[in-house]
Amino acid sequence: MTSTAATAARAMPGIDAPAYVNHAKLKAWVAEVARLTQPDRIVWCDGSQAEYDRLCSEMVASGMLIKLNQQKRPGCFLARSDPDDVARMEDRTFVCSKNKEDAGPNNNWVEPEEMRATLTKITDGCMRGRTMYVIPYSMGPLGSHISHIGVELTDSPYVVVSMRVMTRIGRAVLDLLGTDKFFVPCLHSVGAPLKSGEKDVVWPSNKQQKYIVHFPEEKLIWSFGSGYGGNALLGKKCFALRIASIMAREQGWLAEHMLILGIQPPSGKKHYIAAAFPSACGKTNLAMLIPPKELQGWKVTTIGEDIAWIKPGKDGRLYAINPEAGAFGVAPGTSEFTNPNCLAALTKDTIFTNVAMSADGDVWWEGLTKTPPANLTDWQGKPWDSNSGKPAAHANARFTVAASQIPCIDPDWENPAGVPISAFLFGGRRTTTVPLVAEAKDWTHGVYMAATMASETTAAIIGKVGVVRRDPFAMLPFCGYHFGDYFNHWLKVGKALTQAPKIFAVNWFRKDENGKFMWPGYGDNMRVLKWIIERCEGKGGAADTPVGKMPRYEDMELSGIKDFSKAAFEKLTEVDGALWKEEVKDHERLFGELASRMPAEMMEQRKQLEKAL
Ligand code: OXD
Ligand code: MN
Repeated sequence: MTSTAATAARAMPGIDAPAYVNHAKLKAWVAEVARLTQPDRIVWCDGSQAEYDRLCSEMVASGMLIKLNQQKRPGCFLARSDPDDVARMEDRTFVCSKNKEDAGPNNNWVEPEEMRATLTKITDGCMRGRTMYVIPYSMGPLGSHISHIGVELTDSPYVVVSMRVMTRIGRAVLDLLGTDKFFVPCLHSVGAPLKSGEKDVVWPSNKQQKYIVHFPEEKLIWSFGSGYGGNALLGKKCFALRIASIMAREQGWLAEHMLILGIQPPSGKKHYIAAAFPSACGKTNLAMLIPPKELQGWKVTTIGEDIAWIKPGKDGRLYAINPEAGAFGVAPGTSEFTNPNCLAALTKDTIFTNVAMSADGDVWWEGLTKTPPANLTDWQGKPWDSNSGKPAAHANARFTVAASQIPCIDPDWENPAGVPISAFLFGGRRTTTVPLVAEAKDWTHGVYMAATMASETTAAIIGKVGVVRRDPFAMLPFCGYHFGDYFNHWLKVGKALTQAPKIFAVNWFRKDENGKFMWPGYGDNMRVLKWIIERCEGKGGAADTPVGKMPRYEDMELSGIKDFSKAAFEKLTEVDGALWKEEVKDHERLFGELASRMPAEMMEQRKQLEKAL
């Protein structure tokens, strides 16, 4: 450190931590980062409502937030990001383990010292003219044995208010940290220092350089250049999935890209299931499902809609918590039809990002209503021309809302002990080949089903429709280490359980020869969940097939679905031998890529499937 930097650091308001901070390592780390990034001041966040309100007011004054119509949406704000900073960037995301092989072919890798040098260089002075906020946060209920603590340093007030919604932040977390407890250090900067007197832009970011980096050995997260979503709210994908998956392997638990929901049958015991789906497969809708009228006695409640942390209990079962405290969900497509519970959650105290705004200061996005209101302002703040062919809201426009606002939130969603899991579901987006639902023969077969799941790309995402991308466990962008080791870890966890959850593969997206979805989805998915619960209870009939146990027409409640005959069900659950032989070839290709760490049991499962077909 130069003597000028030392003087600057000494003069920096907030460099001395508040008296209630007693964690020497944390204080030293904050001071070290401040010396490097050189913010104008440091603010230790207390997590209070007053602090949230003050930051929102400051952002309204700077133009970073727009106050929406307070009669229609009390406590709601709109943020518009830079058009180049609108989504997670998988190609700028790195796992920098000491050994390249540990990161696996499923991650981008750079030698850690080299990456550290690159990041140090661009981070030098990167917070000049800004405030550095210190956000102590807990992933999971405070004090739960399944929860873990992180501390994010950021120069974005948008990140602070979002983290307050998405996690539990503030003084109570510091109290738990005490003098020496472990925390995951998370350093975030938008990478846009201000010169003295320079006017800030509405959404600062760095157009040239973006990095989202994970150092597995140090459990350090370092993100530079983006202020959006998973790139910046480091508790979510970076900590709760990538770093947590590494911690989970070391410590014998699971960190998964799964929703968790409660299912209460009309009579009998309540069950909890955890379900993994790739991004954009309707996880938020499934987590808040309303059963169809034919299944009216069944009740669904939400524990979480994106991430699950799952630990073995002393009784040989698995217990799960939702490590998050809010939802950062995709707005387009959310409607009274697809997800009324979610819409109800968004009526107040929500931060919207990149949605369209109506003339009366309300929000709108594609799919919210059939006809868009007149005189919309698009997500970039320009008058929207409905004939332009361009969407009014960005396809990845988001809402940030507290989980406590979800009407169907489960009474146990903050239970520090977690909830016991009866079943795991794994579902991709497949227009052909994969049947509506199949039950794994046993744990190992279930791990095989999950390891080989895939999704077909949609035109909205990658130009070419129908390209099958393998997305094992829906963790392709989120597993912080080699997938071969990850499959092994799942096998090991399962072997140690005496009451392991059952495993099911599901597919809501199969289409007929006219390109029409064969299954109605949404609330009707409850019909599949009902069969799954019955299977968990040792009831429910099933037939053996080469790909698992499947319900027959008479095993499911299918009454009341429009135009859905027995023949339609049989088509939807058909296992086409020729297509499956091609499918297994692609499993082989995936396993070949992961060969150096692939468990022998998975290879054996593939051979058995080939034989059965
Ligand atoms: C998400 C994702 O934002 O999976 O949850 O991309
Ligand atoms: Mn997700």
